[in-house]
Amino acid sequence: MIHKTLKPFPKDFFWGASTSAYQVEGANLEDGKGPSCQDVKELPPGTADLKTCADHYHHYKEDVALMAEMGFKSYRFSIAWTRILPQGTGEVNPKGIEFYNNLIDEIKKYGMEPIVTMFHFDMPAALDERGSWGNRESVDWFVNFAKIMFENFGDRVKYWLTINEQNMLTLVGPIIGTLHLPENCENPMREIYQQNHHMLLAQAKAMVLCHEMLPGAKIGPAPNISLIYPASCKPEDITAAQNFNAMRNWLYLDMAVYGVYNAILWSYLEEHDACPVIEEGDMDIMKQAHPDFIGFNYYNTGTVSASDGTEVAGGDQQSSNGIAGFYKGFKNPYLPVTEFNWEIDPIGFRNTIREMYSRYRLPMLVTENGLGAYDTLTEDGKIHDTYRIKYYQDHIIQIQEAITDGCEMLGYNPWSAIDLVSTHEGIRKRYGFIYVDTTDEEVGSLKRYRKDSFFWYKKVIASNGSDLSDL
Ligand code: BG6
Repeated sequence: MIHKTLKPFPKDFFWGASTSAYQVEGANLEDGKGPSCQDVKELPPGTADLKTCADHYHHYKEDVALMAEMGFKSYRFSIAWTRILPQGTGEVNPKGIEFYNNLIDEIKKYGMEPIVTMFHFDMPAALDERGSWGNRESVDWFVNFAKIMFENFGDRVKYWLTINEQNMLTLVGPIIGTLHLPENCENPMREIYQQNHHMLLAQAKAMVLCHEMLPGAKIGPAPNISLIYPASCKPEDITAAQNFNAMRNWLYLDMAVYGVYNAILWSYLEEHDACPVIEEGDMDIMKQAHPDFIGFNYYNTGTVSASDGTEVAGGDQQSSNGIAGFYKGFKNPYLPVTEFNWEIDPIGFRNTIREMYSRYRLPMLVTENGLGAYDTLTEDGKIHDTYRIKYYQDHIIQIQEAITDGCEMLGYNPWSAIDLVSTHEGIRKRYGFIYVDTTDEEVGSLKRYRKDSFFWYKKVIASNGSDLSDL
């Protein structure tokens, strides 16, 4: 649809940005914090460890002030489970509560909305030892953690996100350092989808609890949604695209919104003897839970063709080789790629939003989107990241197109507010509006610098998205 005029962004649109605790905070074992799976994982070669990251833990006041200077209306961050509960269950760490109280107060001081992710890839190491999400008790562990968060922060936090990218935890856990498999696991797929079932259950219970404890609050899931295109109009390619869409996207939203397992995915699990055990009452809980909005991360679309049976699994959050008998990954010839080889598809952003709105009819909040790139700090303290500005220009306009198409959008919180450590490619893959002086090789001065995109985004926010022009 080519619109004659674009509708404006809503006046209370949440312009902001995102981070996650284990990637930005540092102080990973300080002030009583226990280790998470991220702190004990084997680091990808050549990448920074998570001891310091951007040291947001000690710099949060300066960082929030910089976000306020950009005019942020919201800041999405995650709460580290092991800062609150060092062992995952049991004793609460008062210093952890104090840190997030201070952070939330600081955000509110500038009139920004705190948007809290309850779980972002950082399972307590102590709970990994007890079987992680594979242990049915994980549902209670998470609900207990959720209750503590609602009790302590619910007076000031109105927007909650349950589990960041549960679909990536399930599909590419080893890449992001989260997969826990029991020894001698006979059927890893069944184990992974059992873990997935427990996460879905934990999410549903947390949503119900949130509505009970905090009637004014809003809660939603935060999967990574990428519309999957067929490589051609060949009917077999369309089927392959439907397959991967079901596995990657709709499984998670069908359950969060409608409380049902996606049928295509379920039959795939049946064929692989990988269906999770569903206990009595589980599906009632799934149905009771109703998200108020859909939070979602978008980086690019995917393209697939029909499987030729030779595919060997592989890839990361935004790329996939395929699965024999289900789909084959296909390089889209129409899309450029980033320096880290992720395709760039701004129009796919609009397509993804439209598809989600047609299926679920809920308001949507962009919880991530952004460009990982090598940035250069010049001698006079500048970062000329015109490539990032271009990426944002191209994507933000597509949100406006989608709004004009009739989709309900609550806000845009790209990745990331400030440079942080990426999931598996170090801090050299930078995403922030704010540059942090540190490298994978050694901790630097940690001094903050405003990138060109910082000034550009400030201008965008001040105009409520009507001025996307270059600086
Ligand atoms: C998402 C995650 O997968 O993408 C973030 O929610 C992550 O934690 C972001 O950092 C970018 O991915 P990467 O692999 O470049 O860090």
